[in-house]
Amino acid sequence: MRFVDWWLGTSTWCHAPLTVTRPPSILDSPIQIPTLHVPEDVYYRSFVFSNETTQDCMHILNDREINRRAGMGHEQRRRSFTAGRIALRTLLADHLDIDPVDVPLVIEPSGRLACPETGLHLSLAHSGDVAIAVCSARNVGVDLEQIRSKPASLLDYILADEEREHVHNLDLDSERTLFLCWTVKEAVLKANGTGLRRSPRLVRTKIDTAASHAEVRDPADESWDVHFGLSDHYAAALAVERRPR
Ligand SMILES: CC(C)(COP(=O)(O)OP(=O)(O)OC[C@H]1O[C@@H](n2cnc3c(N)ncnc32)[C@H](O)[C@@H]1OP(=O)(O)O)[C@@H](O)C(=O)NCCC(=O)NCCS
Repeated sequence: MRFVDWWLGTSTWCHAPLTVTRPPSILDSPIQIPTLHVPEDVYYRSFVFSNETTQDCMHILNDREINRRAGMGHEQRRRSFTAGRIALRTLLADHLDIDPVDVPLVIEPSGRLACPETGLHLSLAHSGDVAIAVCSARNVGVDLEQIRSKPASLLDYILADEEREHVHNLDLDSERTLFLCWTVKEAVLKANGTGLRRSPRLVRTKIDTAASHAEVRDPADESWDVHFGLSDHYAAALAVERRPR
């Protein structure tokens, strides 16, 4: 039995071709997860979590994760950490056909997660009450942010000079523009493993809101495809390494 078949109805299992279908419990939920239309060789799982669902699934964590969780100061951090591991472990368990607790996750020196000897690249993100995990044979990075009020000046702080005009002309309100740009840039920085050690300003975007897609150049001038989704309360972006031409 696939783990997802007895899941609590709060996760989304995505397989190729990827139009996300959601169980009714999620459609009825006040939390609307952004829909990501992603390539067929990328797999992702989103998970709307609560205190109860993360407690119920604690047994999926290994001893190292339980110890790390115990050292986290805030309950919300503990909960989102657990939710991220649940999303990732159940996604990989179904992919590799093993138990979630047996998924051999390791943390690389950069901080990103890996699953050795599977040939898979992984990424995860959590924000608010949602966690998203992705895996693929291509390099991937995912970011998720709860949309909330931020100073308008933050947008200019993260934009490269050459993308300002393009971004300010997007047909989105200022908060969604900021969180869209932020998640697109952070997804690329997570895919190449630097995270926010590199400035988001060094990542340059060309965003097509109608296609929910961005062409992005990272600080090393490599190109990435980024697929994004916006809901009322969340922005999500998935960076995928380009296929060799
Ligand atoms: C990776 C990073 C961008 C995450 O940002 P965030 O918005 O706080 O958190 P997200 O939900 O998007 O992602 C968290 C996940 O990213 C992953 N991650 C951590 N470091 C990563 C890296 N260098 N590259 C890719 N992914 C990374 C982890 O799996 C983490 O989840 P976990 O903590 O539950 O294991 C940020 O923590 C970072 O840049 N870290 C590296 C540099 C650093 O440590 N700086 C100090 C703080 S700026």
